[in-house]
Amino acid sequence: MEVKEMLFMNKGDGENSYVKTSGYTQKVAAVTQPVVYRAAQSLFTGRNSCSYQVLNVADLGCSSGPNTFTVMSTVIESTRDKCSELNWQMPEIQFYLNDLVGNDFNTLFKGLSVIQDKYKNVSCFAMGAPGSFHGRLFPQNSMHLIHSSYGVQWLSKVPKMTSEGGLSPPNKGKIYISKTSPPAVWKAYLSQFQEDFLSFLRCRSPELVPDGRMVLIIHGRKSADPTTRESCYTWEVLADAISYQVSQGLIDEEKLNSFNVPYYIPSQEEVRDLVNKEGSFLTEFVDTIEVELEGIWTEPENRAKNLRSFTEPMISHQFGEEVMDKLYDKVKDILVEDCKQEKQSTRGVSIVLELKKKESHLS
Ligand SMILES: C[S@@+](CC[C@H](N)C(=O)[O-])C[C@H]1O[C@@H](n2cnc3c(N)ncnc32)[C@H](O)[C@@H]1O
Repeated sequence: MEVKEMLFMNKGDGENSYVKTSGYTQKVAAVTQPVVYRAAQSLFTGRNSCSYQVLNVADLGCSSGPNTFTVMSTVIESTRDKCSELNWQMPEIQFYLNDLVGNDFNTLFKGLSVIQDKYKNVSCFAMGAPGSFHGRLFPQNSMHLIHSSYGVQWLSKVPKMTSEGGLSPPNKGKIYISKTSPPAVWKAYLSQFQEDFLSFLRCRSPELVPDGRMVLIIHGRKSADPTTRESCYTWEVLADAISYQVSQGLIDEEKLNSFNVPYYIPSQEEVRDLVNKEGSFLTEFVDTIEVELEGIWTEPENRAKNLRSFTEPMISHQFGEEVMDKLYDKVKDILVEDCKQEKQSTRGVSIVLELKKKESHLS
């Protein structure tokens, strides 16, 4: 089965849902909103600005909330403030909320009442835009602002890797790049990310109007080395919990050895190189930020719930629904133990990018 058919965050609004456990990305959103605010205002200094009747804004990989509502609020307030400063009539705003087809769009749409209640005098609309952002989503020249937070590090497919000599599994006992992975594993991950991020940029470029903006917030790493604890911690914990189930005879070892996550945590340099290589965007702003996990995941139980909310659909597809409770109980045990020994990662790293479509790339 293809990644786009089995990837989604835990649905609904129960205790293991993405909506209820996404405290970390909510904190990242709070820190990065000034970039979104500025990007929306800068649309009013370009050559299209006088002619806005409708501002088209897309949030890619929006999930079922609540962060997409934060982004919508920021765009509405930024536009309202700018129009009031310029004494211009505020345009109508059309939001396109994109995610893969398995996303819980029902919960997302129910949550939209937050926006309708908060901005009664603003003319804004929202519609779902299902599909993969690795392909085209919108018509040419139609988008003014595109935003995506914690989506772009998801790959379109699991990287293809071969083991040296073809004897043992290429990434034995692991599900992501790890200290014990052979170099071919990192190479395969990097190569898949390069392919996917380039195609992401190539698809967005014709969709944006000239001078249109794109704000991307990507789960990233600070070190050049992709195997540090900082970047691999989540996937190491999950691999250890799966290995434990293998030792208990609950999961077949072959299933573990043949599984790797379609996810890559890039460095800022890797991202910048690809923006330059693709060539149709100017980088207006780039930064690598760290967000303290203290206060969000002080209790390892909460961290375990978050980990479950964004991995369970994919993990259950590979290993079977019947082992999920035991598996995530083990995840919690590992996190509790690591917390006692102060071995857990304590900060999350994000790469924040604001891009402007170059004039020479008019579509
Ligand atoms: C961790 S969630 C982030 C949700 C939200 N943007 C936030 O900041 O909380 C990542 C989302 O990206 C979506 N996603 C992953 N790959 C995608 C793709 N190729 N096309 C569209 N959405 C995708 C996932 O389904 C998921 O809902």
